[in-house]
Amino acid sequence: MPEVVLSAQNLVKHYPIKRGVLRRTVGHVKAVDGVSFDLHKGETLGIVGESGCGKSTLGRLLMRLEEPTAGSVTFEGQDWSGASARDTRRLRRDIQIVFQDPYTSLNPRMTVGDIIGEPFEIHADVVPKGGRRQRVQELLDLVGLNPEHINRYPHQFSGGQRQRIGIARGIALNPKVLICDEPVSALDVSVQAQVVNLMEKLQDELGLAYVFIAHDLSVVRHISDRVGVMYLGRMAELGEEDEVYARPTHPYTQALLSAVPVPDPTLRGKRDQIVLVGDVPSPANPPSGCRFHTRCWKAQDVCSTLEPELEPRADGHGEHLSACHFAEPRLVVETVDVTGIEPDDRFVSTDTDDLVDAGAGLGAEGGGEELDSGQAEDRARPPATEDTPQVSDPTRVVEDTRDNQG
Ligand SMILES: Nc1ncnc2c1ncn2[C@@H]1O[C@H](COP(=O)(O)OP(=O)(O)O)[C@@H](O)[C@H]1O
Ligand code: SF4
Ligand SMILES: [Mg+2]
Repeated sequence: MPEVVLSAQNLVKHYPIKRGVLRRTVGHVKAVDGVSFDLHKGETLGIVGESGCGKSTLGRLLMRLEEPTAGSVTFEGQDWSGASARDTRRLRRDIQIVFQDPYTSLNPRMTVGDIIGEPFEIHADVVPKGGRRQRVQELLDLVGLNPEHINRYPHQFSGGQRQRIGIARGIALNPKVLICDEPVSALDVSVQAQVVNLMEKLQDELGLAYVFIAHDLSVVRHISDRVGVMYLGRMAELGEEDEVYARPTHPYTQALLSAVPVPDPTLRGKRDQIVLVGDVPSPANPPSGCRFHTRCWKAQDVCSTLEPELEPRADGHGEHLSACHFAEPRLVVETVDVTGIEPDDRFVSTDTDDLVDAGAGLGAEGGGEELDSGQAEDRARPPATEDTPQVSDPTRVVEDTRDNQG
């Protein structure tokens, strides 16, 4: 196992709920409530879970964009909280973030060159002033954009291209860790694949470690080495990608996987579908004991009084971390690793030249026409054919194997 770069220990973030003219604190939203994990050099840790379970808050805590209520984050063994001002600057350089929305996360009044080069203003020692324009152009090239478009504005790019700009900015300071908060969720499926491929390429070339936050389980499976499943501010299950997807032991993970759409209509009726009853409880008042007990079909008395630890539990092959008193493996859907499927419309390697050509259709420098979201990448995409597999959801259903588990 490579060395640990980033480590979260019992991270907690409670937001006060204030009411009345005196703005009295009447409670707390327990957005993140005791999350621990290690991130290893060069690996991708996927974080999945329903909206509101605390994924973005966790990302901000890891980056120290927010102070944790309790717990700590260490980077290469050094605790963020005890770091001097100088060390904090270095830590800020080594951990960068890419946000979900490529439409609002880029300042519309800044040129692409200024957006990508902005981190050099704060960390002036990374690239000397005279070399910055060239460095920005190298970064544009690295993320598959035309370096000559350095003076254009964000609105002149498609959604996928804007996310490439966000990624270029994220890697400008040569970070060791990139926190990616739903980096492809706002993009068309075909464009998602190209951006995911770009991120994998950059990881190989630059040795980056990713925390990849998303609610789309298939995208997370494709890119992740390990996956953590969050529920109401806590980690329900954490393991290698195939452990979590093929041998999930936590009922919540099993329910999430069973809700992944199945592309093959003939298999839809045969799947082991788990329908969860009730809404996600409020994080201001999470259920006692196991937070999932109000929706869990396996819940027993102990579940509402004793909180299950996230600890190694048997999964049929070995064991991996799960926070369930009654953890047992259940194969819900067999999710195929899409890297093995050829040819693959969704995860074809990105032909960056095509993209640049498509971008070149924008018109003269600085005065280009506005490009619709995804338009450039649509043009770059080969036309779909009858036999191109639809892998917008790379899952295949197999029969329920509950009875076969030892
Ligand atoms: N700044 C904030 N102040 C108060 N509550 C917040 C704040 N940020 C997030 N929350 C709450 O914390 C919970 C987790 O939010 P978030 O981390 O954004 O979840 P996710 O990214 O998984 O959708 C939600 O209930 C959200 O409303
Ligand atoms: S601990 Fe109990 S309520 Fe929680 S997931 Fe396991 S069986 Fe369900
Ligand atoms: Mg979020």
